[in-house]
Amino acid sequence: MLTSQQIRQKFLDHFAKRGHQIVPSAPMVIKDDPTLMFTNAGMNQFKDLFLGNRPAQHKRIADTQKCLRVSGKHNDLEEVGIDTYHHTMFEMLGNWSFGDYFKKEAIQWAWELLVDEYKISKEDIYVTYFGGDEKDGLPADEETRLLWLQYMPEERILPFSRKDNFWEMGDTGPCGPCTEIHVDVRTAKEKAQRPGRELVNNDHPQVIEIWNNVFMQFERKADGSLVTLPAQHVDTGMGFERLCMVLQGKRSNYDTDVFQPLIQAIAKQCGKTYGQAEKEDIAMRVIADHLRAISFAIADGQLPSNTGAGYVIRASCVVRCVTVTVSWASTSHSCSRWCPRSRRKWAINSLSCASSSSSSRA
Ligand code: ALA
Repeated sequence: MLTSQQIRQKFLDHFAKRGHQIVPSAPMVIKDDPTLMFTNAGMNQFKDLFLGNRPAQHKRIADTQKCLRVSGKHNDLEEVGIDTYHHTMFEMLGNWSFGDYFKKEAIQWAWELLVDEYKISKEDIYVTYFGGDEKDGLPADEETRLLWLQYMPEERILPFSRKDNFWEMGDTGPCGPCTEIHVDVRTAKEKAQRPGRELVNNDHPQVIEIWNNVFMQFERKADGSLVTLPAQHVDTGMGFERLCMVLQGKRSNYDTDVFQPLIQAIAKQCGKTYGQAEKEDIAMRVIADHLRAISFAIADGQLPSNTGAGYVIRASCVVRCVTVTVSWASTSHSCSRWCPRSRRKWAINSLSCASSSSSSRA
């Protein structure tokens, strides 16, 4: 079985062999972009290259980027720990072309990596492509569909709307149609009962998106209009923890070697056994996830605090960690004592107190 370190290295080697410069991750905390507090995607550090504001030193780049999705347009906080495949902080493996290769090579190299190097079964792979959008005046991405047809039958190439297959960095900025790669890791029996194509983009924990390939062609302006970029680019992001789950034959990101040492240490500290009680498992997953996020945020120069980015770290990670822990540790759990303001709709509220609607606790 490949270790997570080997999986990461294989990705970087694959793209280095194809002419990509390997660069370090940018810091997770952003200090010089008023539209963004935290790095939420690998492409953030390259925003100006896409927009043509400065020239690219290397036309092809690959890296693994620390990302944090706890606020703004890309915010996964509510799912974290409750499900088994979202994280606040995660690694995004990415390859980029700045005005160099485009759809054909991006798709070919993604396929070669997944099938030839990582040996994922072709039959377990589904892909999606942009089905067009009337409001934006954009047609379906037929070119991408035809490219995928060279590798897989049409019943596994699925069109989706702008919500799933048109990627935007934020309310403004670079954007474009994307093609996502999903993998079905269910058992043979489960696959026979229901085809994977019906579960793509359906919140199924074992039919999950692992890689997004974005074809950057536009800039979204503040008035909502799209302006064509001076050149076409490729921006990809693969969820490292999900990839590890697939390649290590697990059914949860938390069962991989990325998380297990942390989970086991937490379980030991708490005198619990992971995998015995769902509610306790969720709490341990939340703690493991949030500890990583807080640690990397601090290492990148952002202490939890009362304002700005520091407040987001404190409120979303530190406080949520404590809330969840206390909630499952306390057998006499009570909404009014432990739920934060219900308007925050934190996931632990819906888990522990499904009927909770209000709390005076600030
Ligand atoms: N920028 C794309 C994403 O974050 C690859 O999904």
